[in-house]
Amino acid sequence: MARVLILHASCEGQTARIAGRIAQTLREIGHAADVIPARGFQAGLEKYDAVMIGSSIHYGHHPAYLRTLLRRHRTALEAMPSAFFSVSLSAGGPGAKPRAARRYLEGLQRQIGWRPQLTTTFGGALQFSKYGRFKRLLMIMIVGLAGGDTNATRDYEYTDWNAVGLFTEAFAQRLNSGD
Ligand SMILES: Cc1cc2nc3c(=O)[nH]c(=O)nc-3n(C[C@H](O)[C@H](O)[C@H](O)COP(=O)(O)O)c2cc1C
Repeated sequence: MARVLILHASCEGQTARIAGRIAQTLREIGHAADVIPARGFQAGLEKYDAVMIGSSIHYGHHPAYLRTLLRRHRTALEAMPSAFFSVSLSAGGPGAKPRAARRYLEGLQRQIGWRPQLTTTFGGALQFSKYGRFKRLLMIMIVGLAGGDTNATRDYEYTDWNAVGLFTEAFAQRLNSGD
């Protein structure tokens, strides 16, 4: 059994939801999993055997506080099995641009100089119910131009939960094989 830390940088909650699902799957496999928001994360990584980190994209970037955290803990992260997932509408959603989603992820790795063993991108969600007036209008405009769902009276989810499960299982397999 491995103790896995799952850190998430989530603004409207979809990345946190994915982190929760990953933890649930890891526990079903027999590992221990803690899900903790990356913002304000202070505790040491020493009590964990492995770490998975997820972050959403807003305005073309992973949040600055996540980049700071990764820089601060880079040495420790390099010494343990790690995985990273990036959540965006480029990865899955109206007018998805998988190559752009991959570029966000690779750009972060280049900036930090951290090479997790496993990386992936997941489609996010459009959560009109959580946006203020400005964000709602902005997202209606952007998504409308992409030919997507602009009925702002409801939310839309584009996350491929099967892909989340497969990614989690691939990481768990590495834990079991000691890679
Ligand atoms: C204000 C705003 C800006 C966004 N900017 C981007 C972007 O530049 N590229 C992209 O692919 N997705 C973008 N998204 C989509 C988010 O990545 C997506 O909604 C994701 O599910 C958010 O995850 P979270 O709920 O964990 O924060 C944006 C969403 C919002 C609300």
